Formats: sequence, C-alpha cells, structure tokens
Amino acid sequence: MSRYLIELEPIAREAGALLLTYFDRHITIEYKGDVDLVTAADRASEKLIAERLKAKWPQHGIVGEEGTRTDTGAEFRWYVDPLDGTTNFAHGYPVFCVSLALVRHDDELEVGVLYDPTRNELFAAERGQGATLNGNPMHVSKTQRVVESILGTGFPSHKRHQNPNIHFYQQLTLHSHGVRRAGSAALDLANVASGRYDGFWEFNLNPWDTAAGVLIVREAGGKVTRFDGSPFRLDSREVLASNGLIHGELIEHFNQILAGRDIDPLPSPKEYAKSRS
Ligand code: IPD
Ligand code: CA
Ligand code: CA
Repeated sequence: MSRYLIELEPIAREAGALLLTYFDRHITIEYKGDVDLVTAADRASEKLIAERLKAKWPQHGIVGEEGTRTDTGAEFRWYVDPLDGTTNFAHGYPVFCVSLALVRHDDELEVGVLYDPTRNELFAAERGQGATLNGNPMHVSKTQRVVESILGTGFPSHKRHQNPNIHFYQQLTLHSHGVRRAGSAALDLANVASGRYDGFWEFNLNPWDTAAGVLIVREAGGKVTRFDGSPFRLDSREVLASNGLIHGELIEHFNQILAGRDIDPLPSPKEYAKSRS
C-alpha cells in the first residue's frame, strides 16, 4: 500500500466518525438552493479533512464541495466530498459517506477512498494497484445480462423537474431485477465496485461525487464511460459505471430511450383508478 493510502484512510475514518457524532443528534438543515441541503456536519467534516490534507500535502490543491479552494495550479489536486448523501443524513436515513480523491493534471485519477461510517466500510483504490474493501481485494460482479442485473441510479436535488432520468429509471426497472435509488452517488459507485450492483448511472454529478468512486470501479475491474460509451472525464455531466459485461447492453438501452423508441407503456393512473372502482 502506498503512502497516500496509508495516510488517507485515517483521515477518511476520522471524518466519518465526526459525521456519526452529528448523525446521532438532531441537527439543523439549511438550504444551498431550492432543495439542495447542507448541514453543520458537511462543513465540520470538510474543515477537518482540509486541515489534515493541508498538513500532510501543503503543495497540493484542494477542491471541496463546501467551498474549500486552495487551487494554485498544482500538479496534484484533492477532490473532497465531506458528506455524500446529505439529504439521507439530514433525514436520519443511514446511507452516506466521505469521499476523497487525488487527481493529477486535471483528469488522471491517482488515489480514491470512500468511507461509510454506518457500516464501517472503507473502499480504496490506487491507479494500477486494484481496489479493496476494508483491506481485502474487491471485484465487480460477473452478471452477464441486464435482465439479470441489479442497478442503481440517482436524481439530482437541484432542478429535478428538468431531468429526464425518470424515463431511464422506468425502462431499466422493467428490464432488470430492479433499480435502486439510494441517495449517495459515491456509495452507488462503491456498490458497483464491490459487486453489490451490476451497474449505475446518473446525470449531472460533480467531480467530488465521482472522482474516488470512478477510480475504485475501474480498479475493481469495472468500466466507466459517458452514456454513449465515450470516455468519462471528471467534467462529464454523465456517468455510466458497470461490471463491464453489461456495459454494451446498457448503452443500447440508453440509445433506445434517448431516441424515444421501444418505450414500454405503463398503465395510466386514471386507468388504474378506474380498475379499482
Ligand atoms: C448528492 C448525492 C446524490 C446524488 C446528487 C448528489 P450530496 O451529493 O450523491 O446521490 O443524486 O446528485 O448531489 O449533495 O449529498 O453530497
Ligand atoms: Ca455529493
Ligand atoms: Ca456533499
């Protein structure tokens, strides 16, 4: 294990433990936008992480979701999501994590760590070194077909009414074992890496949501692209991650949905209401 991972894991665990101290008591929710939540826990976690990163790697840039910016054009930059899953957290639903990633030259993913304090699970990867879950090697699933897969997705908290994902959700729900919507994109990616999901997609994520998870999926043997199969970059507004085996089939589904073809009709609520009477 490299020095980065050795030094990073305790930081992620410390931040996760801090989140739990807030989770266990009533906390005040604030709004960043119309429905975009932030809590004191997001801020406290980011402050702690930024202090630790600065102390260990003063020459690196830091971009944190809650506003930390020490970006001086450095070759290496940290992307920090101090609490991924804030809506869950704020409502007492125990699905959230800390996400830390080191990126070189804007887009080369070097190191990624995700820590889920509610399950004490630490997902980690380093470029070319494989991925681990609590120190044990981790691999994506072997599911061969979408019809036998379990998938994940997410819906943006911001401008949800402008997002077409409900159509993707409908189609893939009808053509798989089901689509989960757990509320933490970083953990969704970790779930693909560990084989708990066979695939995951989402629109409009930010680099702090994706950087660590994307590296962990790749190092666990999975594949990450945009919806059309083109290379994923940190500034891509689409992410499609899978075990690799069902990737082509998922892209075919997406092409059909985007072209508005072969959409399975559902009974209308009115028809359903009539059938009850
Ligand atoms: C959110 C979560 C959620 C995803 C949202 C993200 P946050 O991050 O990852 O699953 O659907 O798009 O913004 O705000 O909880 O850090
Ligand atoms: Ca996030
Ligand atoms: Ca966050």
